[in-house]
Amino acid sequence: SRAKRLAIVGYGTVGSGVYEALEENREKVEKLVGGFTIPLIVVKDGKKSRTTESGTKISEDIETLYKEEIDTAVEAVPDALTAYPIVKKLLEKGITVVTANKELIAKYGEELLHLAAENDCRLYFEAAVAGGIPVLSSIRHTLKVNNVEKIEGIVNGTSNFILTKMREEGTSFEDALEEAQRLGYAEALPDKDVDGWDAWYKTVILSHWLHGQPPVWPEEKPRGIRGIDVRDLHLAAAFYGRIKHTAVLEGTSARVEPRFVDADHPLYGVEGVNNGIHVKGSIVGSLLFQGAGAGKFPTASAVIEDIVNHWTNTAEAEPPYTEQRKEQETKEQDNFP
Ligand code: NAP
Ligand code: HSE
Repeated sequence: SRAKRLAIVGYGTVGSGVYEALEENREKVEKLVGGFTIPLIVVKDGKKSRTTESGTKISEDIETLYKEEIDTAVEAVPDALTAYPIVKKLLEKGITVVTANKELIAKYGEELLHLAAENDCRLYFEAAVAGGIPVLSSIRHTLKVNNVEKIEGIVNGTSNFILTKMREEGTSFEDALEEAQRLGYAEALPDKDVDGWDAWYKTVILSHWLHGQPPVWPEEKPRGIRGIDVRDLHLAAAFYGRIKHTAVLEGTSARVEPRFVDADHPLYGVEGVNNGIHVKGSIVGSLLFQGAGAGKFPTASAVIEDIVNHWTNTAEAEPPYTEQRKEQETKEQDNFP
């Protein structure tokens, strides 16, 4: 059959990671999918120097994307505002999209999934929750009979990285954040990480994924890690615990906040940029998924597995993302920044 044709929109940490991981693993991927090309990469600034194979052109004109003959597109631009019109247009044209953009899915996932279904294509977003950890597909594929009663997770790599650096090395909040930005972990607007919004978006996605509806938030906004200082972290250690930034989804009730966890807690040992997702299943009991929650190749890993699952027709059927959503919930959900 004809080689698959992939475009990549956005060539920063994630987009370049996807390109490089696909090229580095070309032999394995081709064995699975029977040939692929990456004819086009779209960026904001076409003048930046980038290294790609000869068959790949780089354009800063988004219109080239809609003219190119492609089967699938990776969306890896910085935020929902930029991504939404691009993804919408691609899906309307029947082109499957794979994204790592949690803000996009938390805000527009329902609409975009419907659009994909109407146009006989798909929208995938494993990389949007917990970076490299295949948590969405693990829940969907392997916890079908179990009732997932509770999920408790460290889902923001930047915040966990900062808290770990501050506690272990006495690094200031500002310096640790700067390092997380340099390493490509933080969002373009890192306030989203450290004020808890990134974890909030991921919790919204998890709630839809599990329950077909947005979470119920007792608080109007998340609590982030700003304001925690090294002394707080050392005080927690003196009480044989750690302060972790966590997202909890119990039924559909959710909260995002920093809190004390003691040394026996499953998330206590989840350190650095790692994410940890502790899932309580009604049959299996306690499970802990742990791994890199941000960064170039861990995130690219989740994206390329989505692509290959799609190209080999081994992806699960469309998720019941938003089955019973009510008008009022729509308004509430669309209010967050
Ligand atoms: P990034 O490094 O800032 O890269 C963003 C890319 O988007 C850049 O290549 C930029 O072009 C391009 N871009 C910006 N506006 C554009 C436009 N209007 N049209 C086309 N291209 C445009 O961001 P990132 O870290 O890769 O993050 C991308 C997405 O993945 C975000 O949604 C983020 O939340 C998500 N994500 C990131 C990670 C991570 O560890 N970084 C993990 C999971 C999910 P230029 O290069 O020309 O500036
Ligand atoms: N900025 C995000 C984080 C990237 O630090 O977790 C992964 O979603």
